[in-house]
Amino acid sequence: MVKSLTPSLRGYRALTILTPLVMIGEAVMEIVIPFVMGDLINYLNDCLDGLDTMQMSQVLLFGGAMLLCAFFSLLCGVLGGKFASTASAGFAKNLRRDMYAKIQTYSFANIDKFSTASLVTRLTTDVTNTQNAFQMCIRMLVRAPVLFIFATVMSYQIHVGLASMFIAAAIVLGIVVAIVLIKVVPYFRTMFKKYDSLNAVVQEDLTAIRVVKSYVRESYEIEKMKHATGEVYEYSVKAEKILNYLMPVIQVVINLTMVLLLFFGGRLIIAGNLQIGDLSKLLSYCAQILTGVIMVAMCLNFISMSRGSVERIAEVLDEKPSLSNPAEPVTEVKDGSVEFDHVDFAYRADAEKNVLSDITFSIRSGETVGIIGGTGSAKTTLVSLIPRLYDVKSGSIKVGGVDVRDYDMEALRNQVAVVLQKNVLFSGSISENLRWGNENATDEEIREAASLAQASEFIRDIPEGFDYDLGQGGVNVSGGQKQRLCIARALLKNPKILIFDDSTSAVDTKTDALIRAGLKKHAPEVTKIIIAQRIASVQESDRIIVMDEGRIVGIGTHEELLKTSDIYREVYESQVKGGDEDAQK
Ligand SMILES: Nc1ncnc2c1ncn2[C@@H]1O[C@H](COP(=O)(O)OP(=O)(O)OP(=O)(O)O)[C@@H](O)[C@H]1O
Ligand SMILES: [Mg+2]
Repeated sequence: MVKSLTPSLRGYRALTILTPLVMIGEAVMEIVIPFVMGDLINYLNDCLDGLDTMQMSQVLLFGGAMLLCAFFSLLCGVLGGKFASTASAGFAKNLRRDMYAKIQTYSFANIDKFSTASLVTRLTTDVTNTQNAFQMCIRMLVRAPVLFIFATVMSYQIHVGLASMFIAAAIVLGIVVAIVLIKVVPYFRTMFKKYDSLNAVVQEDLTAIRVVKSYVRESYEIEKMKHATGEVYEYSVKAEKILNYLMPVIQVVINLTMVLLLFFGGRLIIAGNLQIGDLSKLLSYCAQILTGVIMVAMCLNFISMSRGSVERIAEVLDEKPSLSNPAEPVTEVKDGSVEFDHVDFAYRADAEKNVLSDITFSIRSGETVGIIGGTGSAKTTLVSLIPRLYDVKSGSIKVGGVDVRDYDMEALRNQVAVVLQKNVLFSGSISENLRWGNENATDEEIREAASLAQASEFIRDIPEGFDYDLGQGGVNVSGGQKQRLCIARALLKNPKILIFDDSTSAVDTKTDALIRAGLKKHAPEVTKIIIAQRIASVQESDRIIVMDEGRIVGIGTHEELLKTSDIYREVYESQVKGGDEDAQK
């Protein structure tokens, strides 16, 4: 799990190793300073007792040594902090970049597995948790044990009985802290999970804010948000409540130990069995050992809290893209012919029923083929297999005579342009959006594509023309205008196969006919597959495929189908009789 994250340390490995090293430097100084101070006290005490003669140079020597140690400790501390924060911030930066790059390699099937909200939480909150835990660990996880070991060794050398006393206290403290943290961690874990739901609400509501407003569902959405934030609140309060007991208990244990140390240490001094300076050393070491225990516990707490986050990040990084290029991919698509051979397909491998069953047909390069069928009859599913957005369950699909699984995916998708049913444009100008199809397109080519897609007219009416900003998701144009821009974007790819998935549903029938006529004239060699609800949109196609519940139930020209396919005839008649004048025309 952690292994999946380590490549993201690149560029910060040196700092990651340096941080604990300088922190060890600081820890050693923290041991040396009380030691020198204790010796100074002992020396002064001896002088007072007349056992030694006081020499200023001696005092200065002690003072100088302490000053030097303090400075070195400060330096190590500052450097440690700086290294740790740089390394952890860099680690987080790389993690986010790596996760984002990984997500770009996901197939549709992979994306269906994670929800968008969950991916957002993983990229934000989870990375921040991991960053904090990482920083804490490289600063404390080595420093605290080193301090603990040194302080223990020194203490035992001074006085075994007293040292044993506060080591016992440290063990008690360790147990108390561990119990509290074991109780708290599950609450924090649940809290992080609740963040997922919170993000889901925020993301869904904000992306669909227009729908929310038009259905006057604001108060319902606010309630949903209240619930989501309430849950995060509930668990963080539960956790904090228990944590609140921790600090006072720690304080009591530490103070009690100090009092006992002073009491027994004082008695030993009076009896002449311990020097004052040595007691001062023991007091410092005792404090260090106890705070060391707390530090280690806190670190472990951070680690266990962030474990969930690390797991969730690793899941993103370890996800195997369900589609990948073959070892020796074909990089050229010869022509726009398409051949389905007994294709079965389901979105999930364990699904009982296939979404597509036994699909067999072939299209010659340059043909125009219509696809008609009721909603949910798997028309979109059928065409999404052509650019290999999903892999077939059995059977095969050939494009240009080669199995789609043998192509380099980029090469294949560059030749198969799909105008998706759910069209998406991006914020930016019209020409920027069209250049998605081909970033090197000239202005002339862009104008031509727009004209073929019957978009020039409305673009001409906008004062800014092609520089007009579409707003996020292309909100600044109408549904039909958006569809035409999406068609133009696909045309700019200069594909060998062009697929329209209900792409002219929001366009009036006259414009729809103009688009088809334009394509026929200007791109005769391109294979055109047109999914439509209106028979009029596919009527003149070379062939029409009729779909029903994932199966092909009819295939032929308009005239043939009127004779052979009941479903087709019914749809046609309902549209004609339904008063669709354009269909009649
Ligand atoms: N990403 C997906 N994951 C799981 N099931 C899906 C997915 N997309 C579609 N389906 C299911 O596959 C079936 C066919 O859907 P598809 O979108 O291909 O139908 P369609 O013919 O394009 O319908 P419409 O005319 O409404 O666009 C439906 O039952 C649908 O629930
Ligand atoms: Mg569809």
